Parts: sequence; structure tokens; C-alpha cells
Amino acid sequence: MNLLKPYSSNHLNLKNKVVMAPLTRSRSGKTRVPNEMNNIYYTQRSSAGLIISEATVISERAVGYIDTPGIYNDEQINGWKRITKSIKRYGGKIYCQLWHTGRSSHPDFHNGKAPLAPSSIKPSGKVTTYDGMKEKEMPSEMTHQEINTTIDEFKNAAKNAITAGFDGVEIHGANGYLIDQFLCDGSNIRTDNYGGNLQNRLRFPLEVVKAVGEEIGFDKTAIRISPSGTFNDMFDSDPKATFGAFVKELNQFDLSYLHISRFFDPRGDLNLPDHYLNNSEMLEYFRNIYKGTIIACNSFDKESGEATLNNGEADLIAYGKLFISNPDLVLRFEKDAELLEWDNSTFYGGAEKGYIDYPFLLKE
Ligand SMILES: Cc1cc2nc3c(=O)[nH]c(=O)nc-3n(C[C@H](O)[C@H](O)[C@H](O)COP(=O)(O)O)c2cc1C
Repeated sequence: MNLLKPYSSNHLNLKNKVVMAPLTRSRSGKTRVPNEMNNIYYTQRSSAGLIISEATVISERAVGYIDTPGIYNDEQINGWKRITKSIKRYGGKIYCQLWHTGRSSHPDFHNGKAPLAPSSIKPSGKVTTYDGMKEKEMPSEMTHQEINTTIDEFKNAAKNAITAGFDGVEIHGANGYLIDQFLCDGSNIRTDNYGGNLQNRLRFPLEVVKAVGEEIGFDKTAIRISPSGTFNDMFDSDPKATFGAFVKELNQFDLSYLHISRFFDPRGDLNLPDHYLNNSEMLEYFRNIYKGTIIACNSFDKESGEATLNNGEADLIAYGKLFISNPDLVLRFEKDAELLEWDNSTFYGGAEKGYIDYPFLLKE
């Protein structure tokens, strides 16, 4: 089976092509320091060819959710160190997903200050704060100084990730967070050189990629995009043009990989606007533009993952929910074993239940 064969490129050497998708589980507490329970969870899944960590905030200003981990202070670096060491001991690889939530946040996380965003456009929806669910509020349009500070924060977080033993970083450019907010014209209506026309909307995301790559090496730098994402109130008038142009520009960097998240909305709303790329056309579209390694994600099972590798539309397949409920997913694929269902109610927060207690196949 192609999925179970090793993968090697100029930048990656993986024991199989089964990738664990980034999955926020909100179990690192208020200090955002990865703990022993997080270590057990990741170690249980170390048979994946590559693990991509849950979204990990690059600074205090990047925060938008309760109890998600960070990578901006020494305690967090040390917490991650234990995890990366353990993954390595089991022959696995792990990248850190670098996250800035932008407008998908709340002033409660920022001492009352408005969340940062490309433009002052209030997204609909609520945020879970430490005082319960609250309506999102009007974000503040980032100044040039704030843009530069944020680029530095991405750079610093990438450096910290390497210090913490990660094999590389994946910049979170998907799902309506800061990078995505700059890319799409529904959230970026700036009138300076970071907005307005398409070329300007690409500027901040490309500056982040360049800064991170120059800091830790482009071979260790990757990015995730969700060209048909509508989660977090995202909209673009022409996603094909926006993401086509962005991905074309990414070719200049020779990155570790491009991670494409097909249409996904955790609210389960499948009403994709007509001008968006649907799941059957998306991979072929970007394969024709991008020259490097592509990871494809969203709604794959073993058969569709294998078919996508075999028809050449992607090099690696990432699995999300299946990895939540099947820590030994790779072995289950190999043995054609039963796949366990996940429990939505334990996705975010809580303790061991639904996190580290999904069973492994019994040894023969
Ligand atoms: C509980 C949960 C948490 C998620 N957290 C993240 C995240 O931190 N970063 C990200 O890019 N995507 C995140 N996603 C999206 C997944 O990476 C993936 O794209 C999605 O689950 C669809 O893939 P699947 O059909 O294999 O589950 C999350 C999804 C779920 C269900």
C-alpha cells in the first residue's frame, strides 16, 4: 500500500505517508505549557509518518482560545522538548503549527485591547473565554509597527520550535486566522500596501514565510492553507485567483511542504459558494501550480487517501478525526482493522477521557 511506504524528498524523510493533521485539543491549561498528558497523547500517535502539532500560539497577542499551547517562553519550550524527544525515541517526526488567531479572538485575552486584524471588520460568532462564551468584538486594524512585531513573533516562535526539538514548523495559514485574514478580500480591505489589490493581500503572508524560512531554513518551513474555508466568517470573492497566486509565489521558497486543507467547516455547513473550489477539483488545481511536496487533508479514509496518492494529486495524506480516535491508525490501515469512531464531545478541553484512552489494537 502506497500510504504505508516511506516518503523522501529533498527535505523530508518519513517512514510512511500517513500524516497526523493539526488538532486543537485545548488541554494545556492557562499557562499554555505542554504537559505530561499532552506528551502521552502525541507519543501514542508516533507511528504516523509525520505529526503536525495542534495550533500553537506564537505570542500572547496571538491567543484566541482557552488552554491551547504556546511556543513563546522557556516553560513552553521545555514542555514541548519532552514531547519531541519522546516522538523521536519512537522514530517519529513532528512539526509545530505556528498560530496567530488575529480577529478570531476576544479582548478578554488581551487585557481589554481589541484583537489584531488586517482590517476593522467584526466577524460573527462567539469565542470561548475563561468567563464563558462571548460575542466576537470589533478588531483593530494593524499598524505597520504591529505588522513588523508580528512577523518577528513568527520568526521567534519558529526559532523556539527548533530549540524545542521540532523537525520543522507549519505556518497556520488556514481556517480564518491571521494569515488567512490577510489573504482574503472579505477580511482585508486595507488601503495601504498590505491590502486592496491581490498582490498587496499576499504581502504579509509572504513576509512571514520569508522571515521564518530565513530564520530556521526553508527546508524546515511549511504552510497550511484552506482555499475554500468559510469557518470563522471567511469569504473571498475569487479564491481560485487569490490562492492560485499565493501558491505560485510560494514556489520561490522551496518549502518543506504545502498543506492543503480541502473544504472543511467544523459547524458542518456544507453550502459551498459556487465560485469556490470543491473537493474534487481542488488538489488538481494546486498540483498544477505548486512544484514541491503537497499534503492533502480533509475527509480522507484509507481508500480515498490511497487513490489520491496513486493518481498523483498529493504526496502525503493527513488524517484528523481518525487520528483522534485511532492512535495506532497506521497499524489499523496495515491490518485492515476496524476504525473506531470519535467522540465530538471530548474534542476540546477536559482530561484523559476522549484524549489518551482510545484503545490500541491488541498484539497478536
Ligand atoms: C478537534 C479538531 C481540532 C482541529 N484543530 C485544528 C488546528 O489546530 N489547526 C488546523 O489547521 N486545523 C485544525 N482542525 C482541522 C483538521 O486539521 C482537519 O483539517 C479536519 O479535521 C478535517 O480532516 P478529517 O476529515 O481527516 O478529520 C481541527 C479539527 C478538529 C476536528
